[in-house]
Amino acid sequence: MIVMGIDFGTTQSKMAVMDEFGRAKPIRNAEGDEITPTVVAFENGETPIVGIEAYRLALSQPEHTRMDFKLKLGADEVLYTTKSGKKHTATTLSSLVLAKLKCDAESALGESIHAVVLTCPANFQDHQRQALLDAAKLAGLEVRRLVPEPSAAAMAYGLQRSDQTFFVFDLGGGTFDATVARIQGAKLDVLGTSGLPNVGGRNFDQILMEHLLHEFKGKAGFAPDRSQDLAFFEDARERTEQAKVTLATREKTTVTLGARGKYASIEVTRDTFLRLTASLVEQAASTCNDLLQLVGLSWSRIDKLLFVGGGSRAVGVKEAMEKASGQRVSQDIDPIRAVAFGAAIQGAIEAGGFVLDGRAIPAPKLHLTDVTAYAIGCMVDDVHLGFSNAVIVPRHSRVPSRLTKTFKLKEPQQTHAEIVLLQGNEGDPADQCLRLGQMELSDLPAEPTMPPRIEVTLDFDKNGICSAFGKDTLSGKSTQMRIDYSKGLVGVHR
Ligand SMILES: Nc1ncnc2c1ncn2[C@@H]1O[C@H](COP(=O)(O)OP(=O)(O)OP(=O)(O)O)[C@@H](O)[C@H]1O
Ligand SMILES: [Mg+2]
Repeated sequence: MIVMGIDFGTTQSKMAVMDEFGRAKPIRNAEGDEITPTVVAFENGETPIVGIEAYRLALSQPEHTRMDFKLKLGADEVLYTTKSGKKHTATTLSSLVLAKLKCDAESALGESIHAVVLTCPANFQDHQRQALLDAAKLAGLEVRRLVPEPSAAAMAYGLQRSDQTFFVFDLGGGTFDATVARIQGAKLDVLGTSGLPNVGGRNFDQILMEHLLHEFKGKAGFAPDRSQDLAFFEDARERTEQAKVTLATREKTTVTLGARGKYASIEVTRDTFLRLTASLVEQAASTCNDLLQLVGLSWSRIDKLLFVGGGSRAVGVKEAMEKASGQRVSQDIDPIRAVAFGAAIQGAIEAGGFVLDGRAIPAPKLHLTDVTAYAIGCMVDDVHLGFSNAVIVPRHSRVPSRLTKTFKLKEPQQTHAEIVLLQGNEGDPADQCLRLGQMELSDLPAEPTMPPRIEVTLDFDKNGICSAFGKDTLSGKSTQMRIDYSKGLVGVHR
């Protein structure tokens, strides 16, 4: 069965499949493009349109267009309600995009597609990964494996290369991921990963747009507001992004904005852009330095610095990273296609090879071992707030993995134990950790000598999704974790 790769991007999605020569190739959509804007518009407030046409409609009908919803996966928020009352969340909007990609790939390849390898940001949380898997299922796709985006790019680079340690700097439209990996023979090991969920190309756009709005107000004498001038903001968003792209190759550019019949031409220089976006670039650079420290390496031990993602093309990023690392950015990888290519490679591996168009597509010889992006642990019985996290799975543990730790109960006569799962570092106070869920054990035998007896096991599957099991070794009672997504982001509370 064919397994293709999908890079579901915040701003644009890409597809790829392996060919008979063992190389990944892009799959074009129905419009003939390699990239499909991750945008959904509702024609007449009802009928969904996905991709470039939806992107164009954002200008004339912003109120019926949705974008950037990838970053809202995992939240139940209703993002759009159709005229007939159908409510859309990030999951259903994503499923509409994935369904178009499936349909377009089937036309392009002349075969039915039921299975894919999907990618997601390395720092995606458990509930965000789950929501993406749900979106794929709604689109009629079985996800053979969810691969972190920088790991997929590492696969695209690592295939047919040997024995080196490299750094993937992945600045996309919505997120920033940094990953250190090592290739030895056919073994590709991710050594560590880190990221910033809110630093991507769109944040560069936002900062530049704020500057342009300020200048517009100075020239036009008023500040447009979203309730009256929604179309102005859509137009400004597009012109701002275009200015950012122009500044990657030119010293200056002029942006013309108009609202309520008043127009203003605003000149933006590279220097202004660099000044405005310096803190974003600094955040990314220091995330890279911290990651290297965490994995015990220095820049001098890195053989290649790879740039991935369209955001990495913004002026100032390459220069800043070359200065920070003392390395030249490698040109050995296509920053826009690499993630989809890696997904396609993993797809052929998952399928064990397949036949496409009468040709045998071999399974590439590459084995990816990934690691967890976070430390996960728990506290047993949070009678007192301020209890701290006891790490069970340290950050950068290999996936899949299964680890167990045994805990004491708090009181000798205790017959009930509450196990709260937390994402955070060893010893972090519970209220500074992300609460992942809780499980309970009740009717336990009291034990005055209080031996360690509550066994908590965490199981990370190949997609980085965690399940938890709790067991009282005295009575043999056991329980499984219920993930309480709605509480996931608000810390521990009773
Ligand atoms: N020449 C350029 N200069 C600056 N930015 C650019 C350039 N070309 C593309 N971009 C930016 O790259 C981003 C899109 O890149 P990419 O396709 O890698 O992101 P994505 O996959 O949609 O997002 P993510 O991976 O974060 O989910 C956009 O923000 C776009 O403005
Ligand atoms: Mg991307």
